[in-house]
Amino acid sequence: MFDLQGKVAIVTGAASGIGFATAQAFAKKGAKVVLSDVNEEVGQQQAEALRQAGAETSFFTADVGNEQSVAALVQHAVQTFGALHIIVNNAGIGMLAATHELDYEDYQRVIRINQDGVFFGAKYAIQQFLKQDGGVVINVASILGVVRQGRLLTMHPKARLIF
Ligand SMILES: NC(=O)c1ccc[n+]([C@@H]2O[C@H](COP(=O)([O-])OP(=O)(O)OC[C@H]3O[C@@H](n4cnc5c(N)ncnc54)[C@H](O)[C@@H]3O)[C@@H](O)[C@H]2O)c1
Repeated sequence: MFDLQGKVAIVTGAASGIGFATAQAFAKKGAKVVLSDVNEEVGQQQAEALRQAGAETSFFTADVGNEQSVAALVQHAVQTFGALHIIVNNAGIGMLAATHELDYEDYQRVIRINQDGVFFGAKYAIQQFLKQDGGVVINVASILGVVRQGRLLTMHPKARLIF
């Protein structure tokens, strides 16, 4: 089994769901974990719950769709724990809408969080990895990202744009 003793990890979207489960699993394996989310109240509580269980954690409020926010998140991890070895770009939103009914603002919001957010996370983490001995970028996606459109159309009789 893998061991993350001494490793520092950032998990975005860590206030709930897969992000929190990942933060919890990493902490159990010995990692120091920076939980990050836009939901500050719940994120703080989750980081505190892991601390109570004996983990070294920190919480940092960051919107992954904002470049400055992600840069500050990476800086926080390095200032708090001295290094960064892993970033899990997990934060994301889902939207199921018919193409002809989707507002452009909603489309842009999904792209900003789900796509730009992954780019910003990788960009600033890799800048830090290059100052050290490397690191790992983990991107959480969806099986729908590799399902061909024909399959989507089969699943959804009317033509739909699915994020
Ligand atoms: N659960 C599933 O079945 C499923 C399926 C496919 C893909 N995914 C992907 O897995 C990831 C996690 O999914 P989940 O089910 O745990 O979702 P979730 O909604 O439980 O958790 C997502 C977290 O991301 C946070 N978040 C939203 N926007 C943010 C932003 N701009 N910046 C920072 N944090 C933000 C939310 O506050 C929330 O805590 C997402 O990227 C999602 O698209 C999940």
